[in-house]
Amino acid sequence: MDEFIDKLKSLLFMAKVVVVRCLQWGDTGKGKVIDVLSPWADIIIRPLGGPNAGHTIYLNGKPMIFHSLPSGIIKDRDGKINLLGSGMVIDPKSLIEEIELLKSQGFSCENLKISQKANLILPTHILEDRLREYLSGNGKIGTTGKGVGPAYTDHVARTGLTVNDLLNPQVFRSKLLRNIEQKMLLFKGVDLKIIEQVLSSSDLNLGKYFSPDNIINVEDICEDYFAYGRTLEKFIIDAEKFIRENIGKKRILLEGAQGLLLSINYGTYPFVTCSDPSLEGMVKGAGLSMSDVDLDLGIIKGFMETRVGEGPFPTEIGDIHSRSFCSKCPNKEDEKFRYPGPYSINHPDPFLQGIALRRKAKEYGATTKRPRRVGWLDLVLLKHALQSGAKDTKLVLTKLDVLSGVKTINVCVEYKYVGPDYRYGQKLFKTGDRVSSPPMYSEFLAYCEPVYKSFPGWSKDISKLKNYSDMPQQLKNILEFIYQNLKTEPVILSVGPNPEETLVIDFFSEEKI
Ligand code: IMP
Repeated sequence: MDEFIDKLKSLLFMAKVVVVRCLQWGDTGKGKVIDVLSPWADIIIRPLGGPNAGHTIYLNGKPMIFHSLPSGIIKDRDGKINLLGSGMVIDPKSLIEEIELLKSQGFSCENLKISQKANLILPTHILEDRLREYLSGNGKIGTTGKGVGPAYTDHVARTGLTVNDLLNPQVFRSKLLRNIEQKMLLFKGVDLKIIEQVLSSSDLNLGKYFSPDNIINVEDICEDYFAYGRTLEKFIIDAEKFIRENIGKKRILLEGAQGLLLSINYGTYPFVTCSDPSLEGMVKGAGLSMSDVDLDLGIIKGFMETRVGEGPFPTEIGDIHSRSFCSKCPNKEDEKFRYPGPYSINHPDPFLQGIALRRKAKEYGATTKRPRRVGWLDLVLLKHALQSGAKDTKLVLTKLDVLSGVKTINVCVEYKYVGPDYRYGQKLFKTGDRVSSPPMYSEFLAYCEPVYKSFPGWSKDISKLKNYSDMPQQLKNILEFIYQNLKTEPVILSVGPNPEETLVIDFFSEEKI
């Protein structure tokens, strides 16, 4: 353990701002990495996203799921400050529920701070999110239905409300009235029964906001949001001033949410979220600048990927079969009922192999409960992720233990394009073309077939290994291949869910053979 701490210290040496973010489609195990790094930090900031995120924290062996609070919140007891940054969208109802849950476990949350500038998620955003998905049928995005997209959209449309408005009831009411006036353009065209049905869900206060005459009960929203304001007021601060006062003095850890491939700017558009979880997006959401960042840690799953919701996924194991199954399957119980198994992680049918890997890796959404689509590591997309809004990123590989026992591990090195002629700027892509740098649009990626390099896997359990030199040669070969392709150094390997199942490596001086 001492050696581990020493290596961690040398990785973080002199750093004042460290960023932890996902380079894939989210769910890469940031919580565990934050847990390992948080003893170093004074301030942990969640810069972006909202309750669409979901991370499971184990307290006294009991799993608790958080959506808006950063995983660093359990360090509140150690005096760490947790800040919900200006780039976030906040649903006060679900945030208060999370705070109450923590308090019931003996946490005071006294070091929690919320940026006054974060945007508010309103019940009408949740309604809009779900209506848009419902009305778009097969064209749906597969959102988490938490109102995140509409809240960000309203910010850009200049009709959004901020956390600060909770402190000024009259301002809140007049902004809300203006906002809802605009929403009526959408709501008025929709069957009232559908609106009533959506508004009757528990996270929308069981129909309280539905009005048969005016569609929305504005006064009921005001009543609830004023009460939320009274509960949250002690946490709300001028985040920009707070950051200015602390930058260079305190050690700041930025905790990402979602992943680069879900970025509104760099992701697989339009199947993306509405924030920008790139390094530059996170830095902006936290109120920092790129030059403040000392270490950028990009997380990927160890030789795997997952995705929830719709959208292209070229390396999906089981391809279209997996995609259409996951799109309809609500949770793991339903999956178990339809495919009881057990199936081998080496099953010759890729669809069933995918189910086996999903079960082994416990890949089910913490927010939506949906089964996550499972695929092989895609170096084409990873290269894109490393080039987009980033700076000297270093790699963290998580969940490496999951692949122990898989006989053949595929790594995608390029695509074969099999679609209609597609112009991208001055370039013309034709069917049969090999592609290593694709346009990040779903109409193109949907026609990309993966070209794999296959590696023999390893069989031994790696979760108890403490030194890189003890790792199976097969694992080292894949890591070396990734480095040769991307020229990005791996610095942390996670081989199990517990903090001690982590290796900090000095890749260049480690023994390779
Ligand atoms: P939204 O963020 O709810 O608008 O959803 C847009 C897309 O991002 C959907 O495909 C979601 O499944 C995906 N998404 C949003 N948040 C997360 C996350 O924390 N992990 C994984 N996928 C996410």
